[in-house]
Amino acid sequence: MTVVTLGVHIVDVLARPVESIPEGQDTHLLEEIRITAAGAAAGTAVDLAKLGVPVASAGAVGDDELGDFLVLIMKRHGVDVAGITRKPGERTAASILPIRPDGGRPSFHVPGANLGFSPADLDPALVTGARLVHLGGMDVTWGLHDPAFFELLRAARQGGTLITMDLLSNMPDLVTGARTFLPHVDYFLPNEEQALMITQAADVEKAAAALLAEGPTGVIVTLGAEGSLVATAAGTVRVPALEVPVVDTTGCGDAYCAGFIAGLLDGRDVEAAARLGTAVAARVAGGLGSDAGLDGLTLQTIAEGN
Ligand SMILES: Nc1ncnc2c1ncn2[C@@H]1O[C@H](COP(=O)(O)OP(=O)(O)OP(=O)(O)O)[C@@H](O)[C@H]1O
Ligand SMILES: [Mg+2]
Repeated sequence: MTVVTLGVHIVDVLARPVESIPEGQDTHLLEEIRITAAGAAAGTAVDLAKLGVPVASAGAVGDDELGDFLVLIMKRHGVDVAGITRKPGERTAASILPIRPDGGRPSFHVPGANLGFSPADLDPALVTGARLVHLGGMDVTWGLHDPAFFELLRAARQGGTLITMDLLSNMPDLVTGARTFLPHVDYFLPNEEQALMITQAADVEKAAAALLAEGPTGVIVTLGAEGSLVATAAGTVRVPALEVPVVDTTGCGDAYCAGFIAGLLDGRDVEAAARLGTAVAARVAGGLGSDAGLDGLTLQTIAEGN
């Protein structure tokens, strides 16, 4: 498999536009409700599949109905789901996202089976055989904080596999805990809040420099509507976000990762890959859900802004 996304799998149920929770037992009529396969591994996998990149996903979901849905949705988009473990008696992670008219996205979340995903659940050949492994949400997959997993990443990199990493939460203890993965990662793509939390740096440039010093070839810090900052040994570049009418920014970080990965594998340099990530994220911001706006597109059409 070309890419393996490994880590967090979440079912998102999204509704828009939501201005308030109805009083008592009232019902508000909405324009749209969707269910998507989301989270830093599953959401990125679906976006990659939509971009035409062969992708398998690995992680843990429950043996409940939500898990059935998640696997079904991923298969429907062409993701190889053989690496997804069903955990008997556990819940599939899920979020409910009432999206505000301005695109704001408060959420309710059940972490579920992601926390228990462990090296024992993983086929090592899936990792060592990939051109690129994307670690999605290592701040919450505590079961992977394991020497056996670090050894597997080391073996994969020795064989030429690239490793990228994104985080999921904004909880200081969890985010900081993911720091131990940095020596095993080629490209790290945290958001601004996560980069500042890990490093305690005064600003995002200093944070990126501090993260770069821990091992990665590149650190790409996403800054929401402000775009992103791309730091490598060659220096630091800011890539502005595209100005688009925003419906819902859920999964923009995952979409950015998918575009970045697709760009790298297509032979582009880090900055060009970041621009592709930016373009993919802008498409996702224009619709409801983490995979919105990507149907029927190719890397080429996205890169050309069509
Ligand atoms: N309002 C917006 N308009 C245009 N592009 C946006 C907007 N918000 C985000 N993006 C694009 O998406 C990228 C990632 O967004 P952000 O920094 O919010 O990620 P995140 O916090 O990791 O989100 P996620 O919750 O999906 O992980 C940004 O670098 C930018 O390119
Ligand atoms: Mg993110």
